Amino acid sequence: MISEKVVKAINEQINMEYASAYIYLNMSIEMDDQAFRGYAKWLFAQYEEELEHAEKFLGFLQTRGAVPVLKDIEVPALEAKTPLDVAKAAYAHEMKVSASIDRIAELASKEGDRASNAFLMWFVNEQVEEEESTRDIVDMFEFAGDDKAVLFEIDRRLGEREED
Ligand SMILES: [Fe+2]
Repeated sequence: MISEKVVKAINEQINMEYASAYIYLNMSIEMDDQAFRGYAKWLFAQYEEELEHAEKFLGFLQTRGAVPVLKDIEVPALEAKTPLDVAKAAYAHEMKVSASIDRIAELASKEGDRASNAFLMWFVNEQVEEEESTRDIVDMFEFAGDDKAVLFEIDRRLGEREED
């Protein structure tokens, strides 16, 4: 049995994943506007990945016999302007998501809900990758500084991201 508490927490996570999708889409639009087409493409792929995360949580609730409840998705104003600022904001956001998933896993453990815990472990591992990939981009743009040739090369490389 899945407890009401876990259902509520996962419902909130569904909203957080859709909100993440919007955040990345917003970042992608901004980077495209600044002609960082490669990074814009990377961010768009991330947007699609966040949609998949939301759907995974949603499907899990349904599998457990619970009914997902959709909530409004917030679109916070994008304060990050440069690619480095965007990268830093993305990394900070992923750490927030990791903390949120850890909290749900902890709650599921407390509730003795092993099925939810096993399901959540996929996300725990996924977040390790998300933190790494977003942190790597911060490092790259930090390294580039104002060097246009290096920025161009990084952008080109980010554009090579495979759809996963
Ligand atoms: Fe996610």
